[in-house]
Amino acid sequence: MIYRDNLITELKSYFGNDNKRINHALTVLKFAESILERESGNSDTVIPAAILHDIGIKESEKKYNSSAGNYQEIEGPPIARNILHKFNLEDNAVNEICDIIAHHHTPDVIDILNFNVIWDADLITNLIEEGITVDKKKIDRIFKTDEGKKIAEKELLKKEK
Ligand SMILES: [Fe+2]
Repeated sequence: MIYRDNLITELKSYFGNDNKRINHALTVLKFAESILERESGNSDTVIPAAILHDIGIKESEKKYNSSAGNYQEIEGPPIARNILHKFNLEDNAVNEICDIIAHHHTPDVIDILNFNVIWDADLITNLIEEGITVDKKKIDRIFKTDEGKKIAEKELLKKEK
């Protein structure tokens, strides 16, 4: 994805010194890229969506004093659109990226591989950040892609005592 590094620069300038948000997005990006190595998702959609998926959080906190998923889903897409318009992307790609951002806390509305890659990468990252381990059965239930499940098993599986 040719604008990957430019989008990371945009992310950093938007979040300023909020390293927690920046690092979160970069970790989601790392897992999304790992999933893409084995799944046939489209990197022109998945990579920008991974970098920008939580871009609405700052505005949600400002407007509603809340980072709840539903506010982020409303606030994120217009901000993402402004950033994406700086680059020469297809309208279809921009619309799909914004659609993923608009639903990234709401599973099963969009059932396309590009969405599922972001879903898995974000969920793996959130569970690692929260220090939560899960068993194999739950991994199979909550993750959507085969590669996402494999990474989740590596990163999140409860260690047998
Ligand atoms: Fe996230």
